[in-house]
Order: sequence, then C-alpha cells, then structure tokens
Amino acid sequence: MRVNDREPIDESLLPADLRLLDYLRDQCGLVGTKESCGRGECGACTVLVDGKAILSCITLASRVQGHVETIEGVAEESAELRESFARHGAFQCGFCTPGQIVRATAILRGGCPDTDVELRKAMNGNVCRCTGYNGIIAAIREVAE
Ligand code: FES
Ligand code: FES
Repeated sequence: MRVNDREPIDESLLPADLRLLDYLRDQCGLVGTKESCGRGECGACTVLVDGKAILSCITLASRVQGHVETIEGVAEESAELRESFARHGAFQCGFCTPGQIVRATAILRGGCPDTDVELRKAMNGNVCRCTGYNGIIAAIREVAE
C-alpha cells in the first residue's frame, strides 16, 4: 500500500484488525479523513484507493494493496473544488467536507455526469446534515464546467 506520495509499506505487516481510517489518522497523522458514523453509512471517511472512492471506516488496512489518496493527497488537485464549495456555501460545520471533496475529485477525474440527478446519485454515499446538498452539487458542477 502507498499513501499519498509517501514510501510504500507492506500492508500485510499491519495488525489484521486495524481499520484503514485508524491507520491514516493515528499512524500516518492524516487527520483530514473524518470518522462520523463509523459503520459505512455517512461517507465522512471517504478516501480513494487506485482512484476509487471507498469508506475507510469499514476497510481493513492490511487488505489495501493499492494507492491510497486522502484529502491531504488531493489537496492541490482539489483547490478549485474547495474554492467552489466556499463560494456556493457547500459546507457549514465542515465535518463531511473532506469526504465530499475526495469523492467529488474522483468523479471529476472520470468526467462529471451530464445531469444533476446523475451527479447526486454519484455523490449519494456522502451524507451532509447541514447544507441540503444543493450547494454541493452546484459547486461540483461549476468546476466541471
Ligand atoms: S465514518 Fe465511515 S461511512 Fe461514516
Ligand atoms: S457541512 Fe456539516 S455535515 Fe456537511
């Protein structure tokens, strides 16, 4: 496994019950990835593995063999997206925001869906209790266009 631009590590040497979320936060010091529900329901802990969004709270670190990207790892790439979130009021408490940005980054890499309905479906795994989602969708759409 390789995390962001760090040296690869042998994931098979990690404790079998260590969650990827805890590995990133506690052992790598990458605290941008958040824990909210802790059971795969909210998306706050979203990171990318080989470009695919996954939930790090329900992923065992010892099973991850690919390239992990956290919010810190996509910081440069997502700069425009983060500015757009701010412009559109796409966060309030901000707790869901790293996960939203990480998933949106993956979506934009693959080409943003044509319709807002499809974009909402693509962002479906990331829950926000504050914003009502319209700002999030508008922010991603603005960057895509
Ligand atoms: S903290 Fe992982 S899905 Fe909610
Ligand atoms: S901004 Fe508060 S949960 Fe999304």
